[in-house]
This record gives sequence, C-alpha cells and structure tokens, in this order.
Amino acid sequence: MQAEIVALQIDLSGRVALVTGGSRGLGRADALTLARAGADVAVADLLVESELSEETDRYGALATVARQQGLVHTEETVEEIRTMGRRALALRCDVTNRDDVDAAVARTVDQLGSVDILVNNAGTLDHVAQFANQSPELWERDLRVNLTGAFNCAQAVWPHMQERGWGRIVNMSSVAGTLGGFGQASYSTTKAGLLGLTKTLAMEGARHGITCNAIVPGVIGTEAFHMASSAMNERIVARTALKRPGEPQEIANAVAFLCSDLASFVTGLEFNVSGGVELFVF
Ligand SMILES: NC(=O)c1ccc[n+]([C@@H]2O[C@H](COP(=O)([O-])OP(=O)(O)OC[C@H]3O[C@@H](n4cnc5c(N)ncnc54)[C@H](O)[C@@H]3O)[C@@H](O)[C@H]2O)c1
Repeated sequence: MQAEIVALQIDLSGRVALVTGGSRGLGRADALTLARAGADVAVADLLVESELSEETDRYGALATVARQQGLVHTEETVEEIRTMGRRALALRCDVTNRDDVDAAVARTVDQLGSVDILVNNAGTLDHVAQFANQSPELWERDLRVNLTGAFNCAQAVWPHMQERGWGRIVNMSSVAGTLGGFGQASYSTTKAGLLGLTKTLAMEGARHGITCNAIVPGVIGTEAFHMASSAMNERIVARTALKRPGEPQEIANAVAFLCSDLASFVTGLEFNVSGGVELFVF
C-alpha cells in the first residue's frame, strides 16, 4: 500500500503566543513568524516606543544604545502583526519583575484569551569581560534577566497551560551555554542554566501536555551582533561550519516548528541552530 503523502505545514491558528524581548532581533522575528503561522501574539519587552525615557538606560549599555538609535520596535511589531489579520498586544514588561510578568500574562489572557506558547527570549548580551574583570552587578543582572526571568515567565503561564492541557515553552539558550564563552562568564552560565530548566520543565510538563525545548543559537546577525566587536564576530564566523552568521528568520523557523503540532513528540531538546559552530571545524 502506498503511504499517503501529507503536505506538512506549520499551523498555529487559534494559539496565543507570548514572546519576551520581542522588540528587536530574534524576539521580533519570532513574534512575526508565529503570527505568520496563524498565532495571535503578545509582544513583551522592557523597551516600548511610547514609554521610553532615559530611565530605561539603567537596564544596561544595549538598552541605552537601542533607545538612542531608535532600535525599539515593540509597538511597530504589534502593528505589523495586526496587518496580517492577527490579534496582538504590546506589553511593557521587565521579566525580572514578578508583578510586571503577572500583569503581562493577565492582560494576554484577558485580551487574547489564553497563553498557549511562551518564548523566553529576553536576554542581556552586553556583559563582555574576562573572568577577573566580570562585574558583580552585571553578573547578578544577567542571572536575573536570563535565568530568573525565564523562570518567572514560565511559572506565570504554567497554570494556564496546565488548565488547557496544552502548552509550548521555548527557551533561548546559546552555544555559549553549551560550549562556554570567552569573556562571557555570566552569560554562558545563565544560558547553561536554562538547559537544566528546560529539561526539568519538559519532564514535569509532559503529564499536562506541555513541552519545553531550548534553542541553542550560534551567532545570529541581530542588532546586538552588529554592535559587538567586528574582529570577534569574524573569528566566530571563521569557526562556523557554514561560514556565516545566521539570520533571525532561521531561529524563528525553529521556534515555529517547536511550537507546532509537528513537534508533538519533541521535548527537553537542545536544538542547535548554529551553522555547526560546535563542530570540529579546521
Ligand atoms: N544574536 C545572537 O547571536 C544570539 C546567539 C545566541 C543566543 N541569543 C539569545 O537570543 C536572545 C535574543 O538575542 P538578540 O540578539 O535578539 O538580542 P537583543 O539584545 O537584540 O534583544 C534582546 C531583547 O530583550 C529585551 N530585554 C532585555 N532585558 C529585558 C528584560 N529584563 N525584560 C524584558 N525584555 C528585556 C531587550 O530590550 C531586547 O529587545 C537572547 O536571549 C540571546 O541571549 C542570541
């Protein structure tokens, strides 16, 4: 008997996604791609165009540069999603602040109906210093944003996913978490920690229909990448098997797959989307 040929497609219609750090870079690409696949999307970020002030500079060097250079697209992303015919919400939310996170989830459930998908993408990438010179303040900030922020958001959406018996959590790790990162002690520690969180949530979520996976990006050409030292970026590209930085869309494709029913038997995965930077390239 000939096997039936089924056209595979990612269809997220009827799902509601919450993407953190969705103002630019990977988060923005994820939000737009999930919407293109049919989801309604809440775009959460600590930077929102209509709420910017010098006060937001306290979040770090990248936040200052983003504000000064107009690299804040939270509301713009929401408008783009609405033009696709989806519902969307812009949410000012600092993932380290439990009240912000609870309010963001409550508004999403209230206005979009549920939270079925969480993309824990918000992250800090601007603490680069060799170990002896790592700043204790930025070490703490990185733990709070990259690790505790993901914990806060996952815990806030968990009861909603549990109640519906369906959920998808995607954590944005990094090859710095799997390989270590020169000059990135705090960052690589948080990204490795996310892998432990991912596997634990995968085990505990299984009985509730919740999957949890981690994307492990290599170097991707986001605004943050272009702001880093070009000499460093060239060295990373040279050791990447595919000899180029990735595109945000290439990460978003993997996110959309993991959030779809095509990935119904995938959980606890460390999904390298890295161009082979972890391979023995010489
Ligand atoms: N770009 C890469 O090469 C790369 C590689 C591996 C992993 N990653 C990871 O992917 C994610 C996105 O990276 P990116 O390159 O788009 O970075 P980015 O700095 O351009 O974007 C991060 C976003 O998170 C937001 N954010 C920061 N702190 C926040 C907080 N406390 N609460 C809410 N939002 C906050 C920022 O405002 C920004 O919009 C990060 O978690 C990063 O660690 C990126």
